Amino acid sequence: MNLHQLTSETRREFLKQTGRFAAGATLAAVAAPKVHAGEDNTLRIALVGCGGRGNSAAGQALAVQNGPIELVALADVFTEKVAKAAESLKGSGERYKVPGDQKFVGFDSYKKAMDCLKPGDIVILATPPVFRWVQFKYAIDKGLNVFMEKPIAVDAPTAVKMFELGKESVKKNQKVGVGLMCRHCRSRGELFKRIKDGQIGDLTLLRAYRIAGRTAKESTPRKPENEASELLWQIKWFHSFLWASGGSFSDFLVHNVDECCWMKDAWPIEAQALGGRHYRGDNVDQNFDTYAVEYTFEDGTKLMLDGRTIDGCYSRHSSLAHGTKGSAVISEHGHMPSRARLFSNQDAGQMGKISDANVIWRCKDPEPNPYQLEWDDLVAAIREDKPYNEVERGAEASLQAVLGRMAAHTGQVIKRSDLLKHDHEFAPNVDKLTLDSPAPLLADANGKYPVPMPGKTTKREY
Ligand SMILES: NC(=O)c1ccc[n+]([C@@H]2O[C@H](COP(=O)([O-])OP(=O)(O)OC[C@H]3O[C@@H](n4cnc5c(N)ncnc54)[C@H](O)[C@@H]3O)[C@@H](O)[C@H]2O)c1
Repeated sequence: MNLHQLTSETRREFLKQTGRFAAGATLAAVAAPKVHAGEDNTLRIALVGCGGRGNSAAGQALAVQNGPIELVALADVFTEKVAKAAESLKGSGERYKVPGDQKFVGFDSYKKAMDCLKPGDIVILATPPVFRWVQFKYAIDKGLNVFMEKPIAVDAPTAVKMFELGKESVKKNQKVGVGLMCRHCRSRGELFKRIKDGQIGDLTLLRAYRIAGRTAKESTPRKPENEASELLWQIKWFHSFLWASGGSFSDFLVHNVDECCWMKDAWPIEAQALGGRHYRGDNVDQNFDTYAVEYTFEDGTKLMLDGRTIDGCYSRHSSLAHGTKGSAVISEHGHMPSRARLFSNQDAGQMGKISDANVIWRCKDPEPNPYQLEWDDLVAAIREDKPYNEVERGAEASLQAVLGRMAAHTGQVIKRSDLLKHDHEFAPNVDKLTLDSPAPLLADANGKYPVPMPGKTTKREY
Protein backbone atom coordinates (compact mmCIF):
# COMPACT_ATOMS: atom_id res chain seq x y z
CA MET A 1 0.00 0.00 0.00
CA ASN A 2 1.29 3.48 -0.77
CA LEU A 3 0.11 6.90 0.30
CA HIS A 4 -2.42 7.08 -2.56
CA GLN A 5 -4.02 3.78 -1.58
CA LEU A 6 -4.85 4.80 1.97
CA THR A 7 -8.41 5.81 2.75
CA SER A 8 -8.82 9.54 3.25
CA GLU A 9 -9.07 9.09 7.01
CA THR A 10 -6.07 6.81 7.45
CA ARG A 11 -4.17 9.00 4.97
CA ARG A 12 -4.88 12.05 7.12
CA GLU A 13 -3.74 10.16 10.21
CA PHE A 14 -0.66 8.89 8.42
CA LEU A 15 0.26 12.37 7.20
CA LYS A 16 -0.29 13.74 10.68
CA GLN A 17 1.89 11.04 12.18
CA THR A 18 4.68 11.55 9.67
CA GLY A 19 4.31 15.31 9.94
CA ARG A 20 3.86 15.46 6.18
CA PHE A 21 2.20 18.75 5.25
CA ALA A 22 1.75 19.72 1.61
CA ALA A 23 2.25 16.10 0.60
CA GLY A 24 1.11 16.71 -2.97
CA ALA A 25 3.77 19.31 -3.63
CA THR A 26 6.44 17.05 -2.15
CA LEU A 27 5.38 13.95 -4.04
CA ALA A 28 5.48 15.80 -7.34
CA ALA A 29 9.04 16.91 -6.65
CA VAL A 30 10.65 13.53 -5.90
CA ALA A 31 12.98 11.93 -8.41
CA ALA A 32 11.89 8.90 -10.42
CA PRO A 33 13.63 5.80 -9.10
CA LYS A 34 16.14 3.83 -11.13
CA VAL A 35 14.72 0.34 -11.24
CA HIS A 36 16.88 -2.42 -12.65
CA ALA A 37 15.18 -5.55 -13.93
CA GLY A 38 15.65 -8.53 -11.66
CA GLU A 39 17.10 -6.43 -8.83
CA ASP A 40 15.56 -6.10 -5.40
CA ASN A 41 15.21 -2.33 -5.06
CA THR A 42 13.73 -2.49 -1.59
CA LEU A 43 15.45 -0.29 0.97
CA ARG A 44 15.27 -1.72 4.46
CA ILE A 45 15.31 0.48 7.52
CA ALA A 46 16.28 -0.08 11.15
CA LEU A 47 15.27 2.44 13.79
CA VAL A 48 17.67 2.94 16.69
CA GLY A 49 16.09 5.11 19.39
CA CYS A 50 12.32 4.60 19.38
CA GLY A 51 11.33 7.90 21.01
CA GLY A 52 9.46 10.92 19.72
CA ARG A 53 11.77 11.90 16.90
CA GLY A 54 12.70 8.34 15.94
CA ASN A 55 9.03 7.49 15.42
CA SER A 56 8.45 10.56 13.26
CA ALA A 57 11.62 9.99 11.23
CA ALA A 58 10.66 6.36 10.57
CA GLY A 59 7.18 7.51 9.51
CA GLN A 60 8.70 10.05 7.13
CA ALA A 61 11.06 7.40 5.72
CA LEU A 62 8.11 5.11 5.00
CA ALA A 63 6.24 7.97 3.34
CA VAL A 64 8.93 8.45 0.64
CA GLN A 65 7.30 7.60 -2.65
CA ASN A 66 10.08 6.68 -5.07
CA GLY A 67 10.32 2.93 -4.61
CA PRO A 68 9.88 0.07 -2.15
CA ILE A 69 10.99 0.85 1.39
CA GLU A 70 10.35 -1.13 4.59
CA LEU A 71 10.96 -0.83 8.31
CA VAL A 72 12.43 -4.14 9.49
CA ALA A 73 14.03 -3.63 12.94
CA LEU A 74 13.62 -1.58 16.10
CA ALA A 75 16.14 -0.93 18.89
CA ASP A 76 15.99 0.94 22.20
CA VAL A 77 17.21 0.67 25.77
CA PHE A 78 13.62 0.51 27.07
CA THR A 79 11.30 -2.39 26.19
CA GLU A 80 8.24 -0.16 26.41
CA LYS A 81 9.68 2.30 23.85
CA VAL A 82 10.11 -0.50 21.33
CA ALA A 83 6.59 -1.72 21.99
CA LYS A 84 5.10 1.76 21.62
CA ALA A 85 6.98 2.46 18.39
CA ALA A 86 5.88 -0.90 16.96
CA GLU A 87 2.29 -0.09 17.78
CA SER A 88 2.35 3.37 16.26
CA LEU A 89 4.43 2.55 13.16
CA LYS A 90 2.13 -0.32 12.23
CA GLY A 91 -0.10 2.51 11.02
CA SER A 92 2.17 2.93 8.00
CA GLY A 93 0.60 -0.19 6.49
CA GLU A 94 2.49 -2.94 4.72
CA ARG A 95 5.74 -1.00 4.74
CA TYR A 96 5.95 -1.91 8.42
CA LYS A 97 7.66 -5.32 8.41
CA VAL A 98 9.20 -5.78 11.85
CA PRO A 99 9.00 -9.40 13.01
CA GLY A 100 8.95 -10.14 16.74
CA ASP A 101 12.56 -11.32 16.72
CA GLN A 102 13.81 -8.06 15.17
CA LYS A 103 12.89 -5.88 18.13
CA PHE A 104 15.92 -5.37 20.32
CA VAL A 105 16.49 -3.89 23.77
CA GLY A 106 19.74 -2.86 25.47
CA PHE A 107 22.94 -0.94 24.86
CA ASP A 108 23.98 -3.39 22.13
CA SER A 109 20.54 -3.29 20.48
CA TYR A 110 21.89 -0.95 17.80
CA LYS A 111 24.26 -3.66 16.58
CA LYS A 112 21.54 -6.29 16.46
CA ALA A 113 19.19 -3.98 14.57
CA MET A 114 21.88 -3.04 12.04
CA ASP A 115 22.79 -6.72 11.65
CA CYS A 116 19.27 -7.19 10.17
CA LEU A 117 20.23 -4.89 7.26
CA LYS A 118 22.30 -5.35 4.11
CA PRO A 119 24.89 -2.87 2.84
CA GLY A 120 23.07 0.04 1.18
CA ASP A 121 20.07 -0.13 3.53
CA ILE A 122 19.37 2.72 5.98
CA VAL A 123 19.72 3.00 9.74
CA ILE A 124 18.03 5.83 11.64
CA LEU A 125 20.01 7.03 14.68
CA ALA A 126 17.62 8.91 16.96
CA THR A 127 18.95 8.22 20.44
CA PRO A 128 20.32 11.01 22.66
CA PRO A 129 23.30 12.39 20.72
CA VAL A 130 26.09 11.05 22.95
CA PHE A 131 25.65 7.66 21.26
CA ARG A 132 25.94 9.03 17.72
CA TRP A 133 29.65 8.36 17.10
CA VAL A 134 29.45 4.84 18.53
CA GLN A 135 26.48 3.84 16.38
CA PHE A 136 27.67 5.71 13.28
CA LYS A 137 31.00 3.86 13.46
CA TYR A 138 29.17 0.53 13.39
CA ALA A 139 26.97 1.73 10.48
CA ILE A 140 30.11 2.65 8.52
CA ASP A 141 31.60 -0.80 9.13
CA LYS A 142 28.36 -2.40 7.93
CA GLY A 143 28.25 -0.27 4.74
CA LEU A 144 24.89 1.27 5.64
CA ASN A 145 23.38 4.56 4.62
CA VAL A 146 22.40 6.65 7.63
CA PHE A 147 19.91 9.21 8.81
CA MET A 148 21.05 10.66 12.14
CA GLU A 149 19.39 13.26 14.27
CA LYS A 150 21.09 16.47 15.33
CA PRO A 151 23.12 17.40 17.29
CA ILE A 152 25.68 14.79 16.32
CA ALA A 153 28.24 15.64 19.01
CA VAL A 154 28.00 16.84 22.60
CA ASP A 155 31.53 18.18 23.19
CA ALA A 156 34.68 19.00 21.22
CA PRO A 157 36.25 15.50 21.27
CA THR A 158 33.06 13.86 19.98
CA ALA A 159 32.75 16.53 17.26
CA VAL A 160 36.31 15.73 16.18
CA LYS A 161 35.40 12.02 16.09
CA MET A 162 32.41 12.82 13.90
CA PHE A 163 34.53 14.88 11.47
CA GLU A 164 36.83 11.85 11.11
CA LEU A 165 34.01 9.32 10.78
CA GLY A 166 32.30 11.62 8.29
CA LYS A 167 35.39 11.56 6.07
CA GLU A 168 35.47 7.77 6.25
CA SER A 169 31.81 7.54 5.23
CA VAL A 170 32.40 9.91 2.28
CA LYS A 171 35.27 7.69 1.10
CA LYS A 172 32.93 4.70 1.26
CA ASN A 173 30.24 6.60 -0.72
CA GLN A 174 27.75 6.20 2.11
CA LYS A 175 24.81 8.57 1.98
CA VAL A 176 24.28 10.27 5.31
CA GLY A 177 21.54 12.71 6.23
CA VAL A 178 21.75 14.80 9.42
CA GLY A 179 18.48 16.05 10.93
CA LEU A 180 19.11 19.75 10.39
CA MET A 181 15.97 19.72 8.29
CA CYS A 182 15.86 23.49 7.72
CA ARG A 183 18.68 22.97 5.20
CA HIS A 184 16.14 21.12 3.06
CA CYS A 185 13.57 23.90 3.22
CA ARG A 186 13.09 25.13 -0.36
CA SER A 187 12.13 28.65 0.80
CA ARG A 188 15.33 29.07 2.79
CA GLY A 189 17.23 27.64 -0.20
CA GLU A 190 15.77 30.35 -2.46
CA LEU A 191 16.52 32.97 0.21
CA PHE A 192 20.15 31.80 0.36
CA LYS A 193 20.52 32.21 -3.43
CA ARG A 194 19.06 35.70 -3.30
CA ILE A 195 21.36 36.73 -0.45
CA LYS A 196 24.35 35.31 -2.38
CA ASP A 197 23.16 37.30 -5.43
CA GLY A 198 23.57 40.43 -3.30
CA GLN A 199 19.89 41.38 -3.07
CA ILE A 200 20.38 42.76 0.46
CA GLY A 201 24.06 43.67 -0.01
CA ASP A 202 26.80 42.32 2.28
CA LEU A 203 25.59 40.74 5.52
CA THR A 204 26.66 42.77 8.53
CA LEU A 205 24.66 41.13 11.33
CA LEU A 206 22.71 37.95 12.01
CA ARG A 207 20.32 37.53 14.93
CA ALA A 208 18.65 34.43 16.29
CA TYR A 209 16.18 33.86 19.10
CA ARG A 210 14.77 30.81 20.74
CA ILE A 211 13.25 32.39 23.77
CA ALA A 212 10.19 30.64 25.14
CA GLY A 213 8.82 29.07 28.30
CA ARG A 214 10.10 25.75 29.67
CA THR A 215 11.37 23.77 26.70
CA ALA A 216 13.64 20.92 27.74
CA LYS A 217 12.69 17.83 29.67
CA GLU A 218 14.27 18.78 33.00
CA SER A 219 14.78 16.30 35.77
CA THR A 220 13.65 16.57 39.32
CA PRO A 221 15.58 14.29 41.72
CA ARG A 222 15.47 10.59 40.89
CA LYS A 223 13.28 8.43 43.06
CA PRO A 224 15.26 5.20 43.42
CA GLU A 225 12.11 3.29 44.38
CA ASN A 226 10.68 4.02 40.88
CA GLU A 227 13.85 4.42 38.83
CA ALA A 228 16.37 1.85 39.99
CA SER A 229 19.04 2.62 37.40
CA GLU A 230 20.73 6.01 37.67
CA LEU A 231 22.15 5.52 34.18
CA LEU A 232 18.78 4.83 32.51
CA TRP A 233 17.18 7.66 34.47
CA GLN A 234 19.80 10.12 33.17
CA ILE A 235 19.29 8.82 29.63
CA LYS A 236 15.56 9.36 29.97
CA TRP A 237 16.21 12.95 31.07
CA PHE A 238 19.00 13.45 28.59
CA HIS A 239 18.41 17.20 28.12
CA SER A 240 19.41 17.66 31.75
CA PHE A 241 22.88 16.16 31.38
CA LEU A 242 25.63 17.63 29.25
CA TRP A 243 27.27 14.24 28.73
CA ALA A 244 24.10 12.79 27.17
CA SER A 245 22.89 15.65 25.00
CA GLY A 246 25.07 18.77 25.20
CA GLY A 247 22.17 20.18 27.23
CA SER A 248 19.31 22.36 26.14
CA PHE A 249 21.74 24.67 24.31
CA SER A 250 22.99 22.02 21.91
CA ASP A 251 19.60 20.45 21.48
CA PHE A 252 17.51 23.53 20.79
CA LEU A 253 19.78 26.31 19.57
CA VAL A 254 21.73 24.32 16.98
CA HIS A 255 19.05 24.84 14.30
CA ASN A 256 19.18 28.63 14.57
CA VAL A 257 22.98 28.67 14.58
CA ASP A 258 22.99 26.42 11.52
CA GLU A 259 20.48 28.38 9.44
CA CYS A 260 22.20 31.71 10.20
CA CYS A 261 25.61 30.30 9.25
CA TRP A 262 24.09 28.90 6.06
CA MET A 263 22.96 32.38 5.01
CA LYS A 264 26.37 33.84 5.91
CA ASP A 265 27.98 30.92 4.03
CA ALA A 266 30.64 30.72 6.77
CA TRP A 267 31.18 29.45 10.32
CA PRO A 268 32.17 31.63 13.29
CA ILE A 269 35.75 31.55 14.52
CA GLU A 270 35.09 32.58 18.13
CA ALA A 271 32.38 33.28 20.68
CA GLN A 272 31.83 35.05 23.96
CA ALA A 273 28.62 34.63 25.89
CA LEU A 274 26.54 35.31 28.98
CA GLY A 275 24.13 33.02 30.75
CA GLY A 276 22.78 32.07 34.12
CA ARG A 277 20.49 29.92 36.22
CA HIS A 278 17.56 31.93 37.49
CA TYR A 279 14.62 29.70 38.32
CA ARG A 280 15.70 26.08 38.54
CA GLY A 281 13.18 25.07 41.20
CA ASP A 282 14.07 21.60 42.41
CA ASN A 283 15.51 20.60 39.02
CA VAL A 284 18.83 18.83 39.24
CA ASP A 285 19.90 19.50 35.64
CA GLN A 286 23.08 21.22 34.40
CA ASN A 287 21.46 23.82 32.11
CA PHE A 288 21.32 27.59 32.32
CA ASP A 289 17.93 29.07 31.63
CA THR A 290 19.32 32.07 29.74
CA TYR A 291 22.04 32.18 27.11
CA ALA A 292 23.20 35.19 25.06
CA VAL A 293 26.01 34.46 22.64
CA GLU A 294 28.05 36.77 20.44
CA TYR A 295 29.59 34.70 17.65
CA THR A 296 32.21 36.34 15.41
CA PHE A 297 32.90 35.35 11.80
CA GLU A 298 36.33 35.77 10.23
CA ASP A 299 35.32 39.04 8.51
CA GLY A 300 34.13 40.50 11.84
CA THR A 301 30.40 39.99 11.18
CA LYS A 302 28.45 39.01 14.30
CA LEU A 303 25.76 36.45 14.96
CA MET A 304 23.89 37.36 18.16
CA LEU A 305 21.99 34.39 19.59
CA ASP A 306 19.54 34.47 22.51
CA GLY A 307 18.20 31.37 24.23
CA ARG A 308 15.83 31.44 27.18
CA THR A 309 13.49 28.91 28.81
CA ILE A 310 11.60 31.06 31.32
CA ASP A 311 7.82 31.31 31.42
CA GLY A 312 6.20 34.74 31.40
CA CYS A 313 8.76 36.55 29.22
CA TYR A 314 8.71 37.87 25.64
CA SER A 315 8.84 34.82 23.43
CA ARG A 316 10.26 34.44 19.95
CA HIS A 317 11.73 31.68 17.77
CA SER A 318 13.29 33.23 14.69
CA SER A 319 16.45 33.88 12.69
CA LEU A 320 17.15 37.15 10.87
CA ALA A 321 19.84 38.67 8.69
CA HIS A 322 20.84 42.28 8.08
CA GLY A 323 22.77 43.51 5.06
CA THR A 324 24.06 46.81 3.67
CA LYS A 325 21.04 47.10 1.34
CA GLY A 326 18.25 45.40 3.26
CA SER A 327 17.34 42.61 5.66
CA ALA A 328 15.85 39.11 5.73
CA VAL A 329 13.61 36.84 7.73
CA ILE A 330 15.28 33.42 7.60
CA SER A 331 12.59 31.87 9.79
CA GLU A 332 9.81 33.83 11.42
CA HIS A 333 8.46 31.58 14.12
CA GLY A 334 9.69 28.03 14.58
CA HIS A 335 11.18 25.69 12.01
CA MET A 336 8.23 25.64 9.64
CA PRO A 337 6.82 27.36 7.77
CA SER A 338 9.85 29.64 7.42
CA ARG A 339 7.92 32.60 5.95
CA ALA A 340 11.30 33.64 4.51
CA ARG A 341 11.37 37.09 2.96
CA LEU A 342 13.58 40.00 2.01
CA PHE A 343 13.13 43.68 2.87
CA SER A 344 14.54 46.74 1.11
CA ASN A 345 15.34 48.26 4.52
CA GLN A 346 16.08 47.00 8.06
CA ASP A 347 12.47 46.02 8.87
CA ALA A 348 13.55 42.47 9.88
CA GLY A 349 14.88 44.25 12.98
CA GLN A 350 11.39 44.93 14.33
CA MET A 351 10.37 43.25 17.58
CA GLY A 352 6.89 41.74 17.65
CA LYS A 353 5.06 41.30 14.35
CA ILE A 354 7.23 42.44 11.44
CA SER A 355 5.51 44.84 9.02
CA ASP A 356 5.59 43.68 5.39
CA ALA A 357 5.46 47.22 3.92
CA ASN A 358 9.01 47.00 2.56
CA VAL A 359 9.08 43.37 1.43
CA ILE A 360 10.89 42.87 -1.89
CA TRP A 361 10.56 39.05 -2.06
CA ARG A 362 8.61 36.46 -0.12
CA CYS A 363 8.67 32.67 -0.34
CA LYS A 364 5.82 30.69 -1.85
CA ASP A 365 3.04 29.51 0.40
CA PRO A 366 2.27 26.75 1.45
CA GLU A 367 5.76 25.48 2.19
CA PRO A 368 6.45 21.72 2.03
CA ASN A 369 7.43 20.09 5.30
CA PRO A 370 11.27 20.07 5.59
CA TYR A 371 11.15 16.94 7.80
CA GLN A 372 9.70 15.09 4.80
CA LEU A 373 11.94 16.83 2.26
CA GLU A 374 15.11 15.70 4.07
CA TRP A 375 13.91 12.12 3.66
CA ASP A 376 12.84 12.56 0.04
CA ASP A 377 16.28 14.02 -0.71
CA LEU A 378 18.23 11.29 1.13
CA VAL A 379 16.34 8.40 -0.44
CA ALA A 380 16.51 9.98 -3.93
CA ALA A 381 20.32 10.28 -3.54
CA ILE A 382 20.53 6.63 -2.48
CA ARG A 383 18.46 5.41 -5.39
CA GLU A 384 20.26 7.65 -7.90
CA ASP A 385 23.66 6.95 -6.29
CA LYS A 386 24.48 10.64 -6.05
CA PRO A 387 27.01 12.00 -3.53
CA TYR A 388 25.13 12.90 -0.36
CA ASN A 389 26.84 13.32 2.97
CA GLU A 390 25.87 15.92 5.58
CA VAL A 391 28.21 14.81 8.36
CA GLU A 392 30.84 17.54 8.02
CA ARG A 393 28.16 20.23 8.13
CA GLY A 394 26.31 18.50 10.98
CA ALA A 395 29.53 18.12 13.00
CA GLU A 396 30.40 21.78 12.41
CA ALA A 397 26.95 22.96 13.50
CA SER A 398 27.25 20.75 16.59
CA LEU A 399 30.75 22.11 17.30
CA GLN A 400 29.45 25.68 16.96
CA ALA A 401 26.78 24.87 19.54
CA VAL A 402 29.54 23.62 21.87
CA LEU A 403 31.50 26.85 21.18
CA GLY A 404 28.63 29.13 22.23
CA ARG A 405 27.65 26.95 25.17
CA MET A 406 31.18 26.67 26.49
CA ALA A 407 31.70 30.43 26.21
CA ALA A 408 28.59 30.92 28.38
CA HIS A 409 29.42 28.12 30.80
CA THR A 410 33.02 29.25 31.39
CA GLY A 411 32.62 33.01 30.94
CA GLN A 412 35.60 33.05 28.55
CA VAL A 413 36.14 33.97 24.90
CA ILE A 414 36.52 30.63 23.14
CA LYS A 415 38.22 30.28 19.77
CA ARG A 416 37.10 27.52 17.44
CA SER A 417 40.74 26.58 16.80
CA ASP A 418 41.35 26.07 20.55
CA LEU A 419 38.08 24.24 21.02
CA LEU A 420 39.10 21.63 18.46
CA LYS A 421 42.04 20.73 20.75
CA HIS A 422 39.95 20.71 23.94
CA ASP A 423 40.15 17.36 25.72
CA HIS A 424 37.08 17.34 27.99
CA GLU A 425 35.10 14.40 26.66
CA PHE A 426 32.07 14.18 28.95
CA ALA A 427 31.51 10.41 28.57
CA PRO A 428 34.61 8.79 27.09
CA ASN A 429 33.46 5.21 27.69
CA VAL A 430 29.99 5.56 26.28
CA ASP A 431 30.72 2.77 23.77
CA LYS A 432 31.24 0.35 26.67
CA LEU A 433 28.05 1.06 28.65
CA THR A 434 25.93 -1.84 29.79
CA LEU A 435 22.66 -1.82 31.71
CA ASP A 436 24.71 -2.29 34.91
CA SER A 437 27.24 0.49 34.30
CA PRO A 438 27.40 3.49 36.61
CA ALA A 439 26.25 6.77 35.03
CA PRO A 440 29.06 8.90 33.53
CA LEU A 441 28.13 11.70 35.95
CA LEU A 442 27.30 11.24 39.60
CA ALA A 443 25.42 13.45 42.05
CA ASP A 444 27.00 14.86 45.20
CA ALA A 445 25.83 14.01 48.72
CA ASN A 446 22.91 16.46 48.32
CA GLY A 447 21.75 14.80 45.11
CA LYS A 448 22.99 17.71 42.94
CA TYR A 449 25.07 17.40 39.80
CA PRO A 450 27.92 19.78 38.96
CA VAL A 451 26.74 22.94 37.19
CA PRO A 452 28.82 25.35 35.12
CA MET A 453 30.34 28.23 37.15
CA PRO A 454 31.38 31.05 34.76
CA GLY A 455 34.51 32.81 35.99
CA LYS A 456 35.19 30.07 38.55
CA THR A 457 35.42 26.95 36.44
CA THR A 458 36.99 28.42 33.33
CA LYS A 459 38.88 25.60 31.61
CA ARG A 460 36.05 23.08 31.45
CA GLU A 461 32.26 23.38 31.56
CA TYR A 462 32.05 21.53 34.91
N1 LIG B 1 15.33 17.71 14.08
C1 LIG B 1 14.48 18.04 15.01
O1 LIG B 1 13.72 19.02 14.91
C2 LIG B 1 14.39 17.21 16.25
C3 LIG B 1 13.23 17.21 17.03
C4 LIG B 1 13.20 16.42 18.19
C5 LIG B 1 14.32 15.67 18.55
N2 LIG B 1 15.43 15.71 17.76
C6 LIG B 1 16.64 14.94 18.14
O2 LIG B 1 16.34 13.56 18.15
C7 LIG B 1 17.09 12.91 19.17
C8 LIG B 1 16.11 12.13 20.06
O3 LIG B 1 15.23 13.05 20.67
P1 LIG B 1 13.75 12.63 21.12
O4 LIG B 1 13.03 13.90 21.38
O5 LIG B 1 13.19 11.66 20.16
O6 LIG B 1 14.05 11.91 22.52
P2 LIG B 1 13.26 10.64 23.14
O7 LIG B 1 13.72 10.51 24.55
O8 LIG B 1 11.82 10.78 22.87
O9 LIG B 1 13.85 9.43 22.28
C9 LIG B 1 15.14 8.92 22.40
C10 LIG B 1 15.01 7.41 22.44
O10 LIG B 1 16.31 6.80 22.39
C11 LIG B 1 16.33 5.73 23.33
N3 LIG B 1 17.72 5.45 23.68
C12 LIG B 1 18.50 6.13 24.57
N4 LIG B 1 19.74 5.62 24.56
C13 LIG B 1 19.74 4.59 23.69
C14 LIG B 1 20.74 3.68 23.26
N5 LIG B 1 21.99 3.74 23.72
N6 LIG B 1 20.41 2.73 22.36
C15 LIG B 1 19.14 2.66 21.88
N7 LIG B 1 18.15 3.51 22.25
C16 LIG B 1 18.46 4.47 23.14
C17 LIG B 1 15.46 6.22 24.46
O11 LIG B 1 15.03 5.19 25.30
C18 LIG B 1 14.33 6.90 23.72
O12 LIG B 1 13.30 6.02 23.38
C19 LIG B 1 17.86 14.00 19.90
O13 LIG B 1 19.16 14.07 19.37
C20 LIG B 1 17.10 15.26 19.56
O14 LIG B 1 17.89 16.42 19.56
C21 LIG B 1 15.48 16.44 16.63
